[in-house]
Amino acid sequence: MRKDELYNLIKNKKMPTHIAFILDGNGRWAKKRGLPRNVGHQKGAATLQEIAKSCNKLGIPYMSAYVFSTENWKRPQEEVNYLMEAVKKLCLDAEKLVKENIKLKIIGTHDNLTNDLIEAIDLAVAKTSNCSGMTLILAFNYGGKQEMIDCVKKIAQKVENKQVAIDDIDEKIIEDNLYTKNIPPVDFLIRTSGEARISNFLLWQIAYAELYFPKIYWPDFHTKELYEAINEFQNRHRRFGGLEEQ
Ligand code: IPE
Ligand code: IPE
Ligand code: MG
Repeated sequence: MRKDELYNLIKNKKMPTHIAFILDGNGRWAKKRGLPRNVGHQKGAATLQEIAKSCNKLGIPYMSAYVFSTENWKRPQEEVNYLMEAVKKLCLDAEKLVKENIKLKIIGTHDNLTNDLIEAIDLAVAKTSNCSGMTLILAFNYGGKQEMIDCVKKIAQKVENKQVAIDDIDEKIIEDNLYTKNIPPVDFLIRTSGEARISNFLLWQIAYAELYFPKIYWPDFHTKELYEAINEFQNRHRRFGGLEEQ
């Protein structure tokens, strides 16, 4: 189907509330073309901007993107530096997000980040704080297990301070102590590149997400591919353990 036909097909149907992307395959995209991996990351960054813009235009309220995992520190120093710089650049370009009315949020830890980068992140988040369109959540230096450790520590501290009783710990208390406090659960998770794994992304938040694994590399995932994905999402039957007719 053509891009405009796909758009007409999906535009008036239910959009995901929170769409999440594991943007994978930048390195392989570059390798296939005989280019250095960093060129793949550069293309990937442009794709991220395009997809954020398109999700915002579709009226999707929340979009998450996994841009650097707590495990990605294992990569060669040069690549790690490049990925750090790419996030810094996105933050320094916050005006672009403001123009699109996109609000930026970053989840993850500050461990091992330079002060420069932390400042750039804080500034970008502040600059976009009054935007009322989509919230773009970058999972940067993020690990799902680390998020749970931090969550358990926060709740344990509240128990110790007698602010929370053990018997009162429920889903709501856990959600209020995750990095994603006040952000609804992921209902649609897309991982590009054909890999079908979660790689420590949003472990709690994807409990009931629909999963989609297109076999293309992230730099090739454009707005048309987004529309195809959403068309697929709109045709899924979500039962949440109940029955269809309920
Ligand atoms: C995803 O692409 C980007 C990040 C992990 C930051 P990769 O760099 O993982 O690309 P492949 O998987 O090696 O192709
Ligand atoms: C997951 O991709 C992390 C990000 C997209 C930031 P990876 O390429 O790092 O994951 P693995 O190593 O294939 O599991
Ligand atoms: Mg990868």
